Amino acid sequence: MTILFLDQSGELGGAELCLLDIIDHGDHRFIDTPLAHGQVALFAEGPFQERLARADIEHHLVGDLRAPRRECSVVRQRLREIIRLIRPVREVLRLAQDCELIYANTPKAMVVGAIVQRFTGLPLVYHLHDILSAQHFGQWECRLLVRLASNCATRIIANSQATQRVFTAAGGERDKTTVIYNGFLPQKFAVDVGTTIELRRKLGLHQTAAHGGNRFTIGCFSRFAPWKGQSLMLEALAELADPTIHLLLVGDALFGEGEYGLKLRRQTEALGLQSQVQFLGFREEVPQLLSVCDLIVHSPRAPEPFGRVMVEGMLAGKPVIAPEEGSAPELLRHGETGWLIPPRDAIALAQAIHQLKADPGLRQRLGQAAAADASQRFHLDYTNRQIYDLCDSLLQSPRSRPSQPRPPDPGPI
Ligand code: UDP
Ligand code: GLC
Repeated sequence: MTILFLDQSGELGGAELCLLDIIDHGDHRFIDTPLAHGQVALFAEGPFQERLARADIEHHLVGDLRAPRRECSVVRQRLREIIRLIRPVREVLRLAQDCELIYANTPKAMVVGAIVQRFTGLPLVYHLHDILSAQHFGQWECRLLVRLASNCATRIIANSQATQRVFTAAGGERDKTTVIYNGFLPQKFAVDVGTTIELRRKLGLHQTAAHGGNRFTIGCFSRFAPWKGQSLMLEALAELADPTIHLLLVGDALFGEGEYGLKLRRQTEALGLQSQVQFLGFREEVPQLLSVCDLIVHSPRAPEPFGRVMVEGMLAGKPVIAPEEGSAPELLRHGETGWLIPPRDAIALAQAIHQLKADPGLRQRLGQAAAADASQRFHLDYTNRQIYDLCDSLLQSPRSRPSQPRPPDPGPI
Protein backbone atom coordinates (compact mmCIF):
# COMPACT_ATOMS: atom_id res chain seq x y z
CA MET A 1 0.00 0.00 0.00
CA THR A 2 1.48 3.33 -0.97
CA ILE A 3 0.01 6.29 0.87
CA LEU A 4 0.44 10.00 0.30
CA PHE A 5 -0.16 11.87 3.57
CA LEU A 6 -1.08 15.58 3.31
CA ASP A 7 -0.70 18.08 6.17
CA GLN A 8 -0.98 21.87 6.07
CA SER A 9 1.12 22.65 9.13
CA GLY A 10 4.83 22.80 9.84
CA GLU A 11 4.16 23.07 13.58
CA LEU A 12 3.97 20.23 16.09
CA GLY A 13 0.27 20.41 16.91
CA GLY A 14 -1.69 17.38 18.11
CA ALA A 15 -2.72 16.41 14.56
CA GLU A 16 0.92 16.38 13.43
CA LEU A 17 2.09 14.43 16.49
CA CYS A 18 -0.69 11.94 15.83
CA LEU A 19 0.45 11.59 12.21
CA LEU A 20 4.06 11.10 13.30
CA ASP A 21 2.92 8.21 15.48
CA ILE A 22 0.96 6.71 12.60
CA ILE A 23 3.88 6.77 10.21
CA ASP A 24 6.81 6.28 12.56
CA HIS A 25 6.94 4.69 15.94
CA GLY A 26 10.09 2.69 15.92
CA ASP A 27 9.57 -1.01 15.43
CA HIS A 28 5.87 -0.51 14.79
CA ARG A 29 6.17 1.71 11.76
CA PHE A 30 2.94 1.97 9.85
CA ILE A 31 4.63 2.97 6.63
CA ASP A 32 7.93 1.93 5.18
CA THR A 33 7.28 -1.63 6.25
CA PRO A 34 6.51 -4.59 4.03
CA LEU A 35 2.86 -3.61 4.64
CA ALA A 36 2.95 -0.07 3.41
CA HIS A 37 5.07 2.68 2.01
CA GLY A 38 4.30 6.34 2.36
CA GLN A 39 5.43 9.88 1.95
CA VAL A 40 4.25 13.20 3.35
CA ALA A 41 3.40 16.38 1.44
CA LEU A 42 3.62 19.42 3.68
CA PHE A 43 2.19 22.89 3.04
CA ALA A 44 4.45 24.77 5.48
CA GLU A 45 7.93 24.46 6.91
CA GLY A 46 8.73 24.22 10.63
CA PRO A 47 9.58 21.77 13.44
CA PHE A 48 7.20 19.12 12.07
CA GLN A 49 9.29 19.00 8.92
CA GLU A 50 12.45 18.63 11.05
CA ARG A 51 10.89 15.73 12.97
CA LEU A 52 9.98 13.99 9.70
CA ALA A 53 13.57 14.44 8.53
CA ARG A 54 14.92 13.10 11.84
CA ALA A 55 12.73 10.01 11.52
CA ASP A 56 13.93 9.57 7.95
CA ILE A 57 10.44 9.83 6.49
CA GLU A 58 10.19 10.88 2.86
CA HIS A 59 8.55 14.29 2.73
CA HIS A 60 8.08 17.18 0.31
CA LEU A 61 7.36 20.83 0.94
CA VAL A 62 4.74 21.64 -1.68
CA GLY A 63 3.93 25.31 -1.10
CA ASP A 64 2.97 27.52 1.77
CA LEU A 65 -0.66 27.66 2.83
CA ARG A 66 -0.16 29.61 6.05
CA ALA A 67 -2.96 32.17 6.42
CA PRO A 68 -2.06 35.43 4.64
CA ARG A 69 -2.13 38.65 6.68
CA ARG A 70 -5.57 40.20 6.76
CA GLU A 71 -4.84 43.47 5.03
CA CYS A 72 -7.49 43.18 2.32
CA SER A 73 -11.21 42.50 1.98
CA VAL A 74 -12.61 39.03 2.71
CA VAL A 75 -13.37 38.45 -0.99
CA ARG A 76 -9.79 39.31 -1.99
CA GLN A 77 -8.47 37.14 0.77
CA ARG A 78 -10.54 34.14 -0.36
CA LEU A 79 -9.35 34.75 -3.91
CA ARG A 80 -5.73 34.77 -2.74
CA GLU A 81 -6.30 31.58 -0.80
CA ILE A 82 -7.65 29.91 -3.93
CA ILE A 83 -4.68 31.09 -6.01
CA ARG A 84 -2.28 29.81 -3.36
CA LEU A 85 -3.81 26.36 -3.74
CA ILE A 86 -2.56 26.03 -7.32
CA ARG A 87 1.02 25.05 -6.48
CA PRO A 88 0.20 22.47 -3.80
CA VAL A 89 -2.47 20.93 -6.02
CA ARG A 90 -0.03 20.66 -8.94
CA GLU A 91 2.70 19.18 -6.75
CA VAL A 92 0.37 16.76 -4.98
CA LEU A 93 -0.99 15.62 -8.37
CA ARG A 94 2.57 14.82 -9.40
CA LEU A 95 3.32 12.92 -6.16
CA ALA A 96 0.00 11.08 -6.33
CA GLN A 97 1.05 9.36 -9.55
CA ASP A 98 3.02 6.84 -7.50
CA CYS A 99 0.40 6.40 -4.78
CA GLU A 100 -2.67 4.29 -4.18
CA LEU A 101 -4.34 6.35 -1.48
CA ILE A 102 -4.43 9.97 -0.28
CA TYR A 103 -4.65 10.65 3.46
CA ALA A 104 -5.59 14.25 4.37
CA ASN A 105 -4.67 15.09 7.96
CA THR A 106 -5.87 18.71 8.26
CA PRO A 107 -8.68 20.88 6.79
CA LYS A 108 -6.61 22.57 4.06
CA ALA A 109 -5.05 19.22 3.24
CA MET A 110 -8.61 17.97 2.78
CA VAL A 111 -9.33 20.77 0.28
CA VAL A 112 -6.23 19.92 -1.74
CA GLY A 113 -6.92 16.19 -1.39
CA ALA A 114 -10.48 16.64 -2.67
CA ILE A 115 -9.28 18.44 -5.81
CA VAL A 116 -6.58 15.84 -6.47
CA GLN A 117 -9.08 13.06 -5.83
CA ARG A 118 -11.33 14.46 -8.60
CA PHE A 119 -8.48 14.24 -11.10
CA THR A 120 -7.03 10.90 -10.04
CA GLY A 121 -9.97 8.89 -8.68
CA LEU A 122 -7.74 7.71 -5.84
CA PRO A 123 -9.41 6.82 -2.53
CA LEU A 124 -9.26 9.73 -0.11
CA VAL A 125 -9.19 9.32 3.68
CA TYR A 126 -9.85 12.42 5.79
CA HIS A 127 -8.56 12.25 9.37
CA LEU A 128 -10.91 14.69 11.08
CA HIS A 129 -9.09 16.06 14.14
CA ASP A 130 -11.38 19.06 14.65
CA ILE A 131 -14.80 19.75 16.04
CA LEU A 132 -16.41 21.60 13.15
CA SER A 133 -18.37 24.14 15.17
CA ALA A 134 -18.50 27.91 15.53
CA GLN A 135 -16.27 27.68 18.63
CA HIS A 136 -13.36 26.54 16.45
CA PHE A 137 -14.10 27.66 12.86
CA GLY A 138 -15.98 30.28 10.87
CA GLN A 139 -19.46 29.32 9.65
CA TRP A 140 -18.31 29.33 6.04
CA GLU A 141 -15.35 27.04 6.77
CA CYS A 142 -17.51 24.58 8.72
CA ARG A 143 -20.03 24.29 5.91
CA LEU A 144 -17.35 23.90 3.25
CA LEU A 145 -15.51 21.20 5.19
CA VAL A 146 -18.63 19.20 6.03
CA ARG A 147 -19.71 19.31 2.37
CA LEU A 148 -16.28 18.50 0.96
CA ALA A 149 -15.68 15.67 3.39
CA SER A 150 -19.11 14.15 2.79
CA ASN A 151 -18.90 14.40 -0.99
CA CYS A 152 -15.22 13.74 -1.70
CA ALA A 153 -13.72 11.65 1.09
CA THR A 154 -13.99 7.91 0.66
CA ARG A 155 -13.76 7.46 4.44
CA ILE A 156 -13.52 9.86 7.38
CA ILE A 157 -11.66 9.00 10.58
CA ALA A 158 -13.06 11.04 13.50
CA ASN A 159 -10.68 11.33 16.44
CA SER A 160 -13.55 10.93 18.95
CA GLN A 161 -17.29 10.38 19.17
CA ALA A 162 -17.60 14.05 20.11
CA THR A 163 -15.97 15.06 16.81
CA GLN A 164 -18.12 12.57 14.90
CA ARG A 165 -21.33 13.79 16.60
CA VAL A 166 -20.78 17.43 15.64
CA PHE A 167 -19.83 16.44 12.08
CA THR A 168 -23.01 14.44 11.54
CA ALA A 169 -25.19 17.02 13.31
CA ALA A 170 -23.88 19.59 10.79
CA GLY A 171 -25.08 17.38 7.93
CA GLY A 172 -21.93 15.27 7.46
CA GLU A 173 -22.40 11.75 6.14
CA ARG A 174 -22.37 9.40 9.13
CA ASP A 175 -21.89 6.19 7.15
CA LYS A 176 -18.50 7.38 5.97
CA THR A 177 -17.16 8.06 9.44
CA THR A 178 -15.34 5.73 11.83
CA VAL A 179 -14.07 6.75 15.25
CA ILE A 180 -10.40 5.91 15.80
CA TYR A 181 -8.72 7.40 18.83
CA ASN A 182 -5.15 8.72 18.85
CA GLY A 183 -2.70 5.97 19.75
CA PHE A 184 0.26 6.02 22.14
CA LEU A 185 3.10 3.74 23.18
CA PRO A 186 2.63 3.26 26.95
CA GLN A 187 6.32 2.47 27.48
CA LYS A 188 7.20 6.06 26.46
CA PHE A 189 5.59 7.21 29.70
CA ALA A 190 7.61 5.01 32.03
CA VAL A 191 10.16 7.41 33.49
CA ASP A 192 12.75 6.21 36.00
CA VAL A 193 12.63 7.68 39.48
CA GLY A 194 16.14 9.15 39.22
CA THR A 195 15.15 11.27 36.20
CA THR A 196 12.03 12.51 37.97
CA ILE A 197 13.92 13.48 41.11
CA GLU A 198 16.58 15.27 39.07
CA LEU A 199 13.99 17.17 37.04
CA ARG A 200 12.09 18.15 40.19
CA ARG A 201 15.33 19.54 41.56
CA LYS A 202 16.05 21.46 38.33
CA LEU A 203 12.58 22.97 38.38
CA GLY A 204 12.84 23.88 42.04
CA LEU A 205 10.00 21.55 43.03
CA HIS A 206 11.90 19.48 45.58
CA GLN A 207 11.97 19.95 49.38
CA THR A 208 11.10 23.39 50.58
CA ALA A 209 11.71 23.89 54.28
CA ALA A 210 8.77 26.28 54.54
CA HIS A 211 6.28 23.75 53.23
CA GLY A 212 7.85 20.58 54.59
CA GLY A 213 8.05 18.49 51.42
CA ASN A 214 7.86 18.52 47.66
CA ARG A 215 5.70 21.21 46.27
CA PHE A 216 2.30 20.02 45.11
CA THR A 217 2.67 20.34 41.35
CA ILE A 218 -0.05 20.77 38.78
CA GLY A 219 0.80 20.43 35.08
CA CYS A 220 -1.05 21.93 32.10
CA PHE A 221 0.28 20.67 28.77
CA SER A 222 -1.33 22.57 25.91
CA ARG A 223 -0.37 25.01 23.24
CA PHE A 224 -1.25 28.58 24.11
CA ALA A 225 -4.58 29.45 22.52
CA PRO A 226 -7.53 31.17 24.23
CA TRP A 227 -9.78 28.11 23.85
CA LYS A 228 -7.23 25.86 25.58
CA GLY A 229 -8.16 27.66 28.80
CA GLN A 230 -4.86 28.15 30.66
CA SER A 231 -6.40 31.42 31.90
CA LEU A 232 -9.15 29.42 33.64
CA MET A 233 -6.47 27.42 35.48
CA LEU A 234 -4.86 30.68 36.64
CA GLU A 235 -8.23 31.90 37.92
CA ALA A 236 -8.67 28.63 39.85
CA LEU A 237 -5.17 28.94 41.30
CA ALA A 238 -5.95 32.44 42.56
CA GLU A 239 -9.21 31.15 44.03
CA LEU A 240 -7.33 28.40 45.92
CA ALA A 241 -5.01 30.89 47.62
CA ASP A 242 -2.68 28.02 48.55
CA PRO A 243 1.03 28.92 48.17
CA THR A 244 2.09 25.26 48.44
CA ILE A 245 0.65 24.63 44.98
CA HIS A 246 2.97 25.05 42.01
CA LEU A 247 1.77 25.28 38.40
CA LEU A 248 3.76 24.26 35.32
CA LEU A 249 2.44 25.73 32.08
CA VAL A 250 4.01 23.61 29.36
CA GLY A 251 3.47 24.72 25.76
CA ASP A 252 3.61 27.75 23.54
CA ALA A 253 1.58 29.57 20.92
CA LEU A 254 1.86 27.56 17.70
CA PHE A 255 -0.67 29.09 15.38
CA GLY A 256 -0.19 32.86 15.75
CA GLU A 257 -1.71 33.25 19.23
CA GLY A 258 1.39 34.96 20.72
CA GLU A 259 -0.80 37.70 22.20
CA TYR A 260 -2.44 35.10 24.43
CA GLY A 261 0.94 34.06 25.87
CA LEU A 262 1.55 37.68 26.90
CA LYS A 263 -1.95 37.88 28.33
CA LEU A 264 -1.28 34.80 30.51
CA ARG A 265 1.91 36.33 31.87
CA ARG A 266 0.10 39.58 32.66
CA GLN A 267 -2.74 37.66 34.31
CA THR A 268 -0.21 35.76 36.46
CA GLU A 269 1.27 39.05 37.66
CA ALA A 270 -2.09 40.73 38.18
CA LEU A 271 -3.19 37.80 40.37
CA GLY A 272 0.11 37.88 42.28
CA LEU A 273 0.93 34.28 41.30
CA GLN A 274 4.49 34.80 39.95
CA SER A 275 6.09 32.64 42.64
CA GLN A 276 3.68 29.76 41.95
CA VAL A 277 3.66 29.62 38.15
CA GLN A 278 6.40 28.56 35.74
CA PHE A 279 6.15 29.07 31.99
CA LEU A 280 8.23 26.29 30.45
CA GLY A 281 7.58 26.96 26.76
CA PHE A 282 7.21 24.18 24.18
CA ARG A 283 9.11 21.07 25.37
CA GLU A 284 9.83 17.72 23.80
CA GLU A 285 10.31 15.78 27.07
CA VAL A 286 6.60 15.59 27.91
CA PRO A 287 6.71 12.15 29.69
CA GLN A 288 9.48 13.37 32.01
CA LEU A 289 7.60 16.59 32.78
CA LEU A 290 4.40 14.65 33.43
CA SER A 291 6.29 12.49 35.90
CA VAL A 292 7.08 15.45 38.18
CA CYS A 293 3.40 16.41 38.47
CA ASP A 294 0.95 15.37 41.18
CA LEU A 295 -2.07 16.33 39.12
CA ILE A 296 -2.79 17.14 35.47
CA VAL A 297 -5.40 19.76 34.64
CA HIS A 298 -6.93 20.19 31.21
CA SER A 299 -9.41 23.06 31.28
CA PRO A 300 -10.35 24.06 27.71
CA ARG A 301 -13.01 26.73 27.30
CA ALA A 302 -14.46 24.95 24.25
CA PRO A 303 -15.17 21.24 23.71
CA GLU A 304 -11.93 19.35 23.02
CA PRO A 305 -11.99 17.12 19.91
CA PHE A 306 -9.63 14.53 21.43
CA GLY A 307 -7.00 16.12 23.69
CA ARG A 308 -3.85 14.00 23.62
CA VAL A 309 -2.71 15.55 26.89
CA MET A 310 -5.48 13.83 28.82
CA VAL A 311 -4.42 10.36 27.64
CA GLU A 312 -0.75 11.19 28.14
CA GLY A 313 -1.53 12.18 31.74
CA MET A 314 -3.37 8.89 32.24
CA LEU A 315 -0.48 6.88 30.78
CA ALA A 316 1.87 8.67 33.15
CA GLY A 317 -0.30 7.31 35.99
CA LYS A 318 -1.53 10.76 37.03
CA PRO A 319 -5.03 11.86 38.03
CA VAL A 320 -6.42 14.10 35.28
CA ILE A 321 -9.08 16.77 35.83
CA ALA A 322 -11.04 17.65 32.68
CA PRO A 323 -14.39 19.21 31.73
CA GLU A 324 -17.47 17.12 31.26
CA GLU A 325 -17.90 17.90 27.56
CA GLY A 326 -16.22 17.23 24.20
CA SER A 327 -14.12 14.08 24.20
CA ALA A 328 -13.22 14.06 27.92
CA PRO A 329 -16.14 11.86 29.08
CA GLU A 330 -15.09 9.26 26.47
CA LEU A 331 -11.50 9.24 27.70
CA LEU A 332 -12.00 9.40 31.48
CA ARG A 333 -14.58 7.89 33.82
CA HIS A 334 -15.33 10.23 36.70
CA GLY A 335 -14.08 8.93 40.03
CA GLU A 336 -12.56 5.82 38.40
CA THR A 337 -9.97 6.85 35.83
CA GLY A 338 -10.13 10.64 36.13
CA TRP A 339 -12.10 13.57 37.46
CA LEU A 340 -14.76 15.40 35.43
CA ILE A 341 -15.98 18.87 36.34
CA PRO A 342 -18.45 21.36 34.87
CA PRO A 343 -16.79 23.18 31.95
CA ARG A 344 -15.61 26.81 32.14
CA ASP A 345 -16.07 26.97 35.92
CA ALA A 346 -12.99 28.19 37.81
CA ILE A 347 -14.63 27.64 41.21
CA ALA A 348 -15.50 24.02 40.42
CA LEU A 349 -11.94 23.53 39.19
CA ALA A 350 -10.50 24.99 42.38
CA GLN A 351 -12.74 22.72 44.48
CA ALA A 352 -11.69 19.63 42.51
CA ILE A 353 -8.00 20.50 42.94
CA HIS A 354 -8.53 21.10 46.66
CA GLN A 355 -10.29 17.74 47.07
CA LEU A 356 -7.66 15.75 45.14
CA LYS A 357 -4.76 17.53 46.82
CA ALA A 358 -6.15 16.54 50.21
CA ASP A 359 -6.51 12.87 49.27
CA PRO A 360 -3.26 11.20 48.11
CA GLY A 361 -4.95 7.75 48.23
CA LEU A 362 -7.62 8.88 45.77
CA ARG A 363 -5.00 10.40 43.48
CA GLN A 364 -3.03 7.17 43.48
CA ARG A 365 -6.12 5.04 42.78
CA LEU A 366 -7.21 7.27 39.91
CA GLY A 367 -3.72 7.38 38.41
CA GLN A 368 -3.19 3.63 38.53
CA ALA A 369 -6.61 2.84 37.07
CA ALA A 370 -6.09 5.49 34.38
CA ALA A 371 -2.75 4.03 33.29
CA ALA A 372 -4.16 0.49 33.11
CA ASP A 373 -7.19 1.63 31.13
CA ALA A 374 -5.34 3.96 28.73
CA SER A 375 -2.56 1.52 27.94
CA GLN A 376 -5.18 -0.81 26.49
CA ARG A 377 -7.73 1.49 24.88
CA PHE A 378 -5.25 3.90 23.35
CA HIS A 379 -2.40 1.56 22.50
CA LEU A 380 -0.72 2.59 19.25
CA ASP A 381 -0.52 -0.98 17.98
CA TYR A 382 -4.28 -1.21 18.26
CA THR A 383 -5.15 2.19 16.73
CA ASN A 384 -2.60 1.85 13.91
CA ARG A 385 -4.01 -1.56 13.06
CA GLN A 386 -7.47 0.02 12.78
CA ILE A 387 -6.13 2.72 10.44
CA TYR A 388 -4.18 0.23 8.39
CA ASP A 389 -7.22 -2.05 8.02
CA LEU A 390 -9.43 0.87 7.02
CA CYS A 391 -6.98 1.98 4.31
CA ASP A 392 -6.44 -1.58 3.16
CA SER A 393 -10.18 -2.19 2.78
CA LEU A 394 -10.40 0.78 0.41
CA LEU A 395 -7.79 -0.66 -1.87
CA GLN A 396 -9.64 -3.93 -2.03
CA SER A 397 -12.94 -2.36 -3.03
CA PRO A 398 -13.04 -2.23 -6.86
CA ARG A 399 -14.91 1.13 -6.81
CA SER A 400 -12.09 2.97 -5.09
CA ARG A 401 -9.13 1.10 -6.53
CA PRO A 402 -7.18 3.25 -9.01
CA SER A 403 -7.78 1.96 -12.52
CA GLN A 404 -5.10 -0.57 -13.39
CA PRO A 405 -4.25 -1.74 -16.90
CA ARG A 406 -6.10 -5.04 -17.43
CA PRO A 407 -4.22 -8.19 -18.46
CA PRO A 408 -4.88 -9.08 -22.13
CA ASP A 409 -7.91 -11.34 -22.69
CA PRO A 410 -6.58 -14.85 -23.41
CA GLY A 411 -9.62 -15.56 -25.62
CA PRO A 412 -11.69 -18.80 -25.56
CA ILE A 413 -9.80 -21.90 -24.42
N1 UDP B 1 3.05 19.02 23.66
C1 UDP B 1 4.42 18.96 23.50
N2 UDP B 1 5.17 19.94 24.10
C2 UDP B 1 4.61 20.93 24.82
C3 UDP B 1 3.19 20.98 24.97
C4 UDP B 1 2.43 19.99 24.38
O1 UDP B 1 4.97 18.08 22.86
O2 UDP B 1 5.34 21.76 25.31
C5 UDP B 1 2.26 17.95 23.03
C6 UDP B 1 1.40 17.18 24.00
O3 UDP B 1 2.17 16.21 24.64
C7 UDP B 1 0.34 16.62 23.08
C8 UDP B 1 0.24 17.67 21.98
O4 UDP B 1 1.35 18.53 22.12
O5 UDP B 1 0.74 15.39 22.52
C9 UDP B 1 -0.99 18.50 22.04
O6 UDP B 1 -2.03 17.77 21.54
P1 UDP B 1 -3.55 17.97 21.96
O7 UDP B 1 -4.31 16.97 21.24
O8 UDP B 1 -3.66 17.91 23.43
O9 UDP B 1 -3.91 19.45 21.55
P2 UDP B 1 -3.79 20.38 20.25
O10 UDP B 1 -2.79 21.39 20.63
O11 UDP B 1 -3.37 19.62 19.08
O12 UDP B 1 -5.16 20.93 20.08
C1 GLC C 1 -6.35 18.42 17.08
C2 GLC C 1 -7.36 18.59 18.22
C3 GLC C 1 -6.96 17.81 19.46
C4 GLC C 1 -6.57 16.39 19.09
C5 GLC C 1 -5.50 16.38 18.02
C6 GLC C 1 -5.13 14.97 17.58
O1 GLC C 1 -5.21 19.17 17.27
O2 GLC C 1 -7.51 19.96 18.56
O3 GLC C 1 -8.05 17.76 20.35
O4 GLC C 1 -6.12 15.71 20.23
O5 GLC C 1 -5.97 17.06 16.89
O6 GLC C 1 -6.24 14.25 17.10
